[in-house]
Amino acid sequence: MNAKIAGIGFYVPERVVTNEELTKLMDTTNEWIIERTGIEERRYAKKHKETTSTMGAEAAKIAIERAGITAKDIDFIVFATLSPDYYFPGSGVLLQRHLGIKDIGCLDIRTQCTGFIYGLSIADQYVKSGMYKNVLVVGSEFHSAGLDFTTRGRNVTVIFGDGAGAAVVQATEEEGKGILTTNLHADGEYAEQLMYANPGCHGGVFLGDKSELDYKDEADYGDMFLTQELIDKEAIYPHMNGRYVFKFAVQKFPEAIMEACEATGYTPADIDMLVPHQANLRIAQMIQLGLKIPNERVYNNIQKYGNTTAASIPIALCEAWEKGLIKDGDLVCLAAFGSGFTWGAAMIRW
Ligand code: ACO
Repeated sequence: MNAKIAGIGFYVPERVVTNEELTKLMDTTNEWIIERTGIEERRYAKKHKETTSTMGAEAAKIAIERAGITAKDIDFIVFATLSPDYYFPGSGVLLQRHLGIKDIGCLDIRTQCTGFIYGLSIADQYVKSGMYKNVLVVGSEFHSAGLDFTTRGRNVTVIFGDGAGAAVVQATEEEGKGILTTNLHADGEYAEQLMYANPGCHGGVFLGDKSELDYKDEADYGDMFLTQELIDKEAIYPHMNGRYVFKFAVQKFPEAIMEACEATGYTPADIDMLVPHQANLRIAQMIQLGLKIPNERVYNNIQKYGNTTAASIPIALCEAWEKGLIKDGDLVCLAAFGSGFTWGAAMIRW
């Protein structure tokens, strides 16, 4: 029994935010953003109307319909996000509620930009083992809710956008079709290079300009998850050591793609469509160059949506498929790298 992607969908909020709009809030320029990242615009969710789980539900409804099933046929949900509706419970149960289904298990995963690859791999194992027939994998992010819209946060803020993507992973008996392999990796050594430290139980104040947490231990217990001090010092935004992340990304992306090739007996030349996580257009171009994959076999849409973390691969995959760039029988490779650090790849015979 193999597992295939039977249906895929994506949702992006209506509100388009251009680079020009961000220049009114922080010291940045359209030229800087385009030159360093390739991003021209991104979408921001509607405050108080949309959440990570509502966007995920919109994408899921499309994926479910395209899979030719109904929400009642879903056996299990895997929800990947770093920007959940609540700290707990996870957004998976909220998505389940939006879809009007009950009882099935919902698993929230926190592997950031690699979230969709991890989710796909989990779904693949459940389907292959015969435990479930239809697993819904969702990646959704509401980044704009927690970004620093001042010059201090510009290196992070200009990159991220909101949106959601979803896939129904379904059992198939078609020989040689579906998810051929997945590989998952992580190295916690670099956790603080790209993080959103607060709220958390580390008990420190992370100010973003240091690579280590500045620990304090005044109280024996309590009062450390989200303190007034954190708010006063505005230690409530994501931190990224961009150059460090970039360096690792251009090394780990190709490693994961090559591992997927080796596991399936293919070479990068056999890949009909590479869909890299949309972290930075420059990263995608460096990977493509290194693996000698021509432009028409790589799909990028970071120009329009920015980096949507766990949603970026399903959004790009779905958009490429909708444009007819992924056809039945094509060899599709997905690859990601992000906070954790985490990285991985999947090879799919469509
Ligand atoms: N506008 C104008 N200037 C800026 C901006 C901005 N938005 N952001 C930073 N700068 C300035 C900096 O202050 C710095 O100025 P200085 O030289 O006077 O100190 C200069 O530009 C260079 O800053 P860097 O951060 O070194 O810029 P870099 O060329 O590395 O580009 C970027 C930054 C785009 C973030 C890049 O490092 C990158 O893409 N890194 C990887 C990001 C990534 O892949 N993340 C993983 C996925 S995300 C996830 O998992 C959640």
